[in-house]
Amino acid sequence: MPSALPPGDPAPADGSLPPSALSTLGERGFAFYVHVPFCTVRCGYCDFNTYTATELGPGVNRSTYADQAIAEIRQARTVLGDTDRRVDTIFFGGGTPTLLPPTDLTRIVAAIRDEFGLSADVEVTTEANPDSVTLKDLDELRAGGFTRLSFGMQSSVPHVLAVLDRTHDPKRVPAVVEWARAAGFTSRDSGGVSLDLIYGTPGESMADWEASLDTALACEPDHVSAYSLIVEDGTALARRVRRGELPMPDEDDYADKYVVADERLRKQGLEWYEVSNWATSPDHQCRHNLLYWRSADWWGVGPGAHSHVGGVRWWNVKHPAAYADRIGADLSPAHGRETLTAEDRRVERVLLELRLKEGLSLDVLDDAGRAAVPAQVERGLAVVTRTPAGDRLVLTDAGRLLADGVVRELLM
Ligand SMILES: C[S@@+](CC[C@H](N)C(=O)[O-])C[C@H]1O[C@@H](n2cnc3c(N)ncnc32)[C@H](O)[C@@H]1O
Ligand code: SF4
Repeated sequence: MPSALPPGDPAPADGSLPPSALSTLGERGFAFYVHVPFCTVRCGYCDFNTYTATELGPGVNRSTYADQAIAEIRQARTVLGDTDRRVDTIFFGGGTPTLLPPTDLTRIVAAIRDEFGLSADVEVTTEANPDSVTLKDLDELRAGGFTRLSFGMQSSVPHVLAVLDRTHDPKRVPAVVEWARAAGFTSRDSGGVSLDLIYGTPGESMADWEASLDTALACEPDHVSAYSLIVEDGTALARRVRRGELPMPDEDDYADKYVVADERLRKQGLEWYEVSNWATSPDHQCRHNLLYWRSADWWGVGPGAHSHVGGVRWWNVKHPAAYADRIGADLSPAHGRETLTAEDRRVERVLLELRLKEGLSLDVLDDAGRAAVPAQVERGLAVVTRTPAGDRLVLTDAGRLLADGVVRELLM
């Protein structure tokens, strides 16, 4: 089962926000995240808030979900008031959003458009498992306003996919990318296609990882995300590692595989713009994730979804049954919330912005952080670049491998 929610303060029953939070709405961008908490099977490594049919329990099913999400979008309109701030990006994540019929997904996009309006160049992404879409689904998504697809490829090697409990046939990935192109998710007309990869799975050799990278690159994606496998507490993977059935992934192996990934991706024209994300051009960067990393405002719809508006962060009740009950009673699904202090927001900016290729403005650092900069530069982990807007600290190639350590030094 997914991990527990943070405690926080109770959220008001109508979800209302203080005027101070609303006064800056959208100044750094405005996004919607829609969580779709359903999966056919649970992958042994995943502790996201998602449920198989048996875990959902009686009385909850996928067919009523879109209407609940739309009801929460209408609540968002009431809470955020009469703003004329249009929505810059929408991201459907999961779970497996594409387990819902395309018409449900496009109805949710239409509800956001009807309530708030969409920016002229809105980015609308859905995550998709390769075995959960057809060409017809992709046609419908494109026609219904989706501009970007992110496929969970993970690996092309059968024994690696088996350890991850992934159900798709690796041959399906090139096929779905081709369908996506045919449906109009092309690099010229849209945000295009992204592939998600995982490295460091127990039993994955360097040759396996290189094969996965080569297979991904042969699909000519516009964007690639590559994350090391995290062994999350409470997952089946963690239990298998604890029992000694699988080795614990190794930090040196992660680093070696990161370097190989960066070299191969760069060679094919994909440049890093965040430590774990590469794109063929700035137009193909994930603008939604950039909004998170730049501390914008976003409303998270759905069970367990997190939101952030003007320094107030809140999270919804976790189980789809509890969520359905709240929405059905016309109550806010928010379960807890916290108001970030100026120091919380500063620390968060250091954590997120240092990972970006554009780097961290030195103005965000306190005196101790600024004093720690020369040592990072001397160690070859970062450089200070001059921009018209001021000096920024940017990780070097070596620094990207040690980003967490650099952040720790800057926040001592
Ligand atoms: C939660 S999934 C949702 C989308 C879709 N169901 C999928 O699996 O591709 C989003 C991404 O998070 C990754 N992910 C989930 N748990 C992870 C973990 N423990 N370590 C690294 N990546 C993880 C998935 O592999 C996937 O690429
Ligand atoms: S398909 Fe995606 S969301 Fe579902 S269990 Fe697997 S990794 Fe998690």
